[in-house]
Amino acid sequence: GADVEVDISGIQVGQLIRVMWRSKPVWIVRRSPELIASLAAVESELRDPNSEVEQQPAYAQNQYRSIKEEYLVLVGICTHLGCSPQHLTDGDFAEHAEGVSEGFFCPCHGSKFDMAGRVFQGVPAPYNLVVPPYMFVDDNNIIIG
Ligand code: FES
Repeated sequence: GADVEVDISGIQVGQLIRVMWRSKPVWIVRRSPELIASLAAVESELRDPNSEVEQQPAYAQNQYRSIKEEYLVLVGICTHLGCSPQHLTDGDFAEHAEGVSEGFFCPCHGSKFDMAGRVFQGVPAPYNLVVPPYMFVDDNNIIIG
């Protein structure tokens, strides 16, 4: 079928895994408590920090844009013209957003997204990264679709 079941039990804190769903890359990131706590700090720099734009599923209309704070699930396609953003960690994102050590950067035209997939102001991408439909089957498995 079109739905994809993913065992998330092996994802380490800080790790991003990629799966394919309907020919699209989907990222699943296990966020650390520190990263989760840091999400509030960038809100003044974001275009749609509360995910008020129509495309967001109801369960992504929160600061974490996720069902569980720890797990971020995103379609890994830039909302500008469809390039593949890079996951920059260990401070490498700071050259694109001062004081922010980790995020997603699109090399095509410089769009920037935080670790909830929320787009920064002043970049070409108009929307936050898309959260696909998904659900938890149990603590270790999600279904995308
Ligand atoms: Fe990502 Fe243009 S496609 S910034």
